[in-house]
Amino acid sequence: MYTKAQIQSLQTLTKDYLQNPHNIQLGALKQVLKFHEYQYYVAATPLISDYEYDCLYQELLALEGASPSLITKDSPSQRVGSSLNESFTTVPHLVPMLSLENSYNAEDLLDFDRKAREGAGLDQIIYCVEPKFDGASISLVYENDLLVRACTRGDGIAGDDITQNIKQIKSIPLSIPLSEFGIMQMEIRGEVIMSKKSFTDFNNKLKAKQLATLANPRNAAAGAIRMKDPKEVAERNLDAFIYHISYYNLKADVPVPTLLETHSGALELLWGMGFRSPQKEKKLIQGIQGVIDFCGVFEIERDKLPYEIDGLVIKINDFSLQEKLGMTSHHPRWAIAYKFKARQATTILENVEFQVGRTGAVTPVAKLQAVAIGGVTVSSISMHNEDYIKEKDLRLGDTVIIERAGDVIPQIVHSIPALRKGNEKIIEFPTSCPVCDYTLEKEETEAVWRCNNPLCTAQIVERIIHFVSKDALDIKNFGDANIRKFYELGLLKNIPEIYHLDFETISTLEGFGKKSVDNLKTAITASMSQPLYRLIYALGIRFVGETTAKTVTTHVHHILDLQNFSEEQLQSFEDVGVKVAKSIYHYFHEEKNIALIKELEAAGLNMIQQQIQAADGNLSELNFLFTGTLTQLKRSDAEAMVEVRGGHILSGVSSKLNYLVVGEDAGSKLEKAKKIATIKIITEAEFVELIKN
Ligand code: IVH
Repeated sequence: MYTKAQIQSLQTLTKDYLQNPHNIQLGALKQVLKFHEYQYYVAATPLISDYEYDCLYQELLALEGASPSLITKDSPSQRVGSSLNESFTTVPHLVPMLSLENSYNAEDLLDFDRKAREGAGLDQIIYCVEPKFDGASISLVYENDLLVRACTRGDGIAGDDITQNIKQIKSIPLSIPLSEFGIMQMEIRGEVIMSKKSFTDFNNKLKAKQLATLANPRNAAAGAIRMKDPKEVAERNLDAFIYHISYYNLKADVPVPTLLETHSGALELLWGMGFRSPQKEKKLIQGIQGVIDFCGVFEIERDKLPYEIDGLVIKINDFSLQEKLGMTSHHPRWAIAYKFKARQATTILENVEFQVGRTGAVTPVAKLQAVAIGGVTVSSISMHNEDYIKEKDLRLGDTVIIERAGDVIPQIVHSIPALRKGNEKIIEFPTSCPVCDYTLEKEETEAVWRCNNPLCTAQIVERIIHFVSKDALDIKNFGDANIRKFYELGLLKNIPEIYHLDFETISTLEGFGKKSVDNLKTAITASMSQPLYRLIYALGIRFVGETTAKTVTTHVHHILDLQNFSEEQLQSFEDVGVKVAKSIYHYFHEEKNIALIKELEAAGLNMIQQQIQAADGNLSELNFLFTGTLTQLKRSDAEAMVEVRGGHILSGVSSKLNYLVVGEDAGSKLEKAKKIATIKIITEAEFVELIKN
């Protein structure tokens, strides 16, 4: 999309603008931001940090704020939209959005090829094969270089206008160089998807806030594009692949661009205009046997992709041949979907267990006759809450269809009532806690039954597990099983006891050699100096996830300063709404919670926000990653050294990374980091120097 020379000059401008913000020229700044959006979201090779992008973006907002008449429709600032109060408007597509015919095996593909060859009068056809993205289909209309409309598929003839939502997807350009090709208007098709990583991250955030999680990336994407508030769409970090030009309209006397003679050419053209088309993923194959072989290989490889696909789409590459074959009212005759084997299976719902979580929420878990789907054996699936069981009318003994999509947690799709024999049993939700027998309660607005007994042993153990978990105080070498074991043996009865463990007794236990005891001791000690937000998150205050914990921390010096805020004051914090404010207020006004915090303080835990930065905050907010074998330091110690100084350890190379510390025999992480200009690559010795300073 960008030539080397363009990249160089845009990078020079970027550096210049970052250093001299008063010299910025609005038109050029928009180009610079557009370029970095492309690098980040389409080319997946960010050239500046998120922070630097944000600085430039703020400059744009300031310049446009000063001269609103200069705001253009394709300005990066125009992605932000306002909430919709009414329902979406229905708009007709320029060309009806047809579906695809499905195939499931080699026979179906041979049949498709035979008909295509007969229709085309050819011995062999060149096919373009590309992923069948598993998301929500959209159509986009560009006029005079600008994105003017985005629609859902709807009934294929007309769809809902979701332009504001689609503008939140950064890999969809707001303007494209159509005029360079003499094109006045163009309608294109694609699929909005949520990557597996974005899906997991988003669900983790929901979980941390104790909200219901989403079933799979497809539902998450399809739900997102129809949301009323574009800001909520932005939070889901969606992406879009564009794979089809359904209509274009050329200026008089302009010849058809050569790229628009074939499908692979169209993908290249779309890619060149700044879209994420399956340009790199596609494969041109002559003859159907090659296609069949490729489908077989790809089905096995599908899990390696960072997003979900449910098959491949096989398209005749030559547009004149496509035209010759035409379409039925349902699907084009020049394309077919090859659907991968469904990762669904039927099994029997044999039993239900009711598990008690750290907040007392009681979750029904379906115990199933073990069944393999997509290479994984599934015997247990969460049924979330009582409403879920009722809505799906699930009964003990039912035959149920279960689904597992890639990395995604298995779900029960539905039961098959037609297979009932009459001895299936209605699932009765317990009225008292299955662990401590305390009467369960349910708030009117909630679907969850809770045990509100603070002494419920299940909750105590789950709270300890949360306290030491990775995003909380991150006590490594302290798994769930060990916590349960220590609890049962009376060695760990509550959170503060983590810091007074009887290591003498522990070292007599099976599986606790000197090394594992030492590792545990080190990890517990390191957890004492964790940044304050981690402790706030670790306390497990309802609705307080990692992000809220970080926000809250910026308003206090000592954690107990939170006792001084009223609910209204808490609501004035960024992202803290009524529900969260209420929860924080109550937490810090309950004696037992204050006593817990004081006990932890007495044990030596960091309770102060500035202390870490003031004492030695040189790594505060910096992100580190270690790769290769370290020779002077143990990896865990090196990581603890960073975290104690306020820095963070990332799990992979991204534009967020500030330092990559390279040990011996470093591999792919080093190569990847070399491509991102903002990452400083340092040796272990340089790291030690950095820490000393
Ligand atoms: S081509 C006339 N290509 O699959 C052109 N569709 O089951 C028809 N889909 O409605 C679409 N990936 O939403 C095409 N690479 C791809 C696709 C793709 C996903 C979706 C699309 C379509 C559905 C049909």
